[in-house]
Amino acid sequence: MSQSREFRVPPVIRFGAGASREVGQEAKALGCGKALIVTDAFMHSSGACGPVIKALEDAGLETRIYDGVNSEPDLSHISSGLALQRQYASDLIVAVGGGSPLDAGKAISVMITNSGGMENYMGMGKLTRPGLPLIAIPTTAGTGSEATLFTIITDTARDVKMLIGSPFILPRVALVDPELTLAMPKGLTAATGLDALTHGIEAYVSRKSQPMSDVFALSAIRLLGENLRTAWEQPGNYEARSKTMLGALQAGIAFSNASVALVHGMSRPVGAVFHVAHGVSNAALLGEVMEFSISGNPERYADVAAALGLERQAGAEATAKAGAAWVKELIRTLQVPTYSQLGVTREKLDQAAGKMADDAIASGSPANNPRIATRDEIIELYYKVL
Ligand SMILES: [Fe+2]
Repeated sequence: MSQSREFRVPPVIRFGAGASREVGQEAKALGCGKALIVTDAFMHSSGACGPVIKALEDAGLETRIYDGVNSEPDLSHISSGLALQRQYASDLIVAVGGGSPLDAGKAISVMITNSGGMENYMGMGKLTRPGLPLIAIPTTAGTGSEATLFTIITDTARDVKMLIGSPFILPRVALVDPELTLAMPKGLTAATGLDALTHGIEAYVSRKSQPMSDVFALSAIRLLGENLRTAWEQPGNYEARSKTMLGALQAGIAFSNASVALVHGMSRPVGAVFHVAHGVSNAALLGEVMEFSISGNPERYADVAAALGLERQAGAEATAKAGAAWVKELIRTLQVPTYSQLGVTREKLDQAAGKMADDAIASGSPANNPRIATRDEIIELYYKVL
């Protein structure tokens, strides 16, 4: 039985040095005159938004900043942003920052036009109206949020990271400027880069993978495998930074069209319960989950290993296992903190693991994994990673 598949990307993607400064021209091309810039307090106070504001104002736009987003955007950040937007009545949202401001910008854009609370739209395809035009300007090389039709907003009342997916969430323009990543500290380079690698790998092994997303997934894995370590070791190496950011963008395109799988499914509850950064949480899980999942589709994992630059061995399984070992070694090299270093203890896990496994399964992502994990297996994996 054949089934058609759709493939969506932002209508405009500009990639390269200085792309972020094209924001004025892109805003004009959208016919907009009044921009609400959504960012976080650090981006604002450090002056990182300055060139974006200048470019918008040089193009004749009015601007106002909402910098109330923190590292885990929740419903309160969205409602504050919405209140400011309604008062200011902008016709454009420009989201600048890491995954959090981008996700918040997406949420604000669609909640201006869709009534009721965000929690009503959890899941896929529930939004009914397009939002305000959104220009996404990432400052990390990781989430790929600039190219995806998802946003993740935490409902703190329920300790759930809500995954909301809709074509209406896809940015109208993505301005992907590697110059903006040169200042990233090592820990952030590692966590965000490994998040991107996880996107590439999960998109490629996903049961929802498709020929169009495969191209982007494999290219992303190759770019990140070749360049992430160098970008981490030599923060000022523009070539490595640029290729890492291109990999992150391509990985975003891949998973937006193929979905993520067990690592992300298990990672979101860790973030929601223990407030561990998304990339760190993924990195801790990635190696173990790859090893667990290989038997579900050894050929795909062997392709991942080959894209990482490993020689193919006799038998897909052996190549696949070598790939998982390579990824584990990379994660060690990049010195990503482990769960126990982040304060996740056995006692706390005893309390939370059941709910975390339930929330993981409820998100739907684990159902895309090549090997389907039972609730007990998910709990076991949490303990194994700890
Ligand atoms: Fe991710």
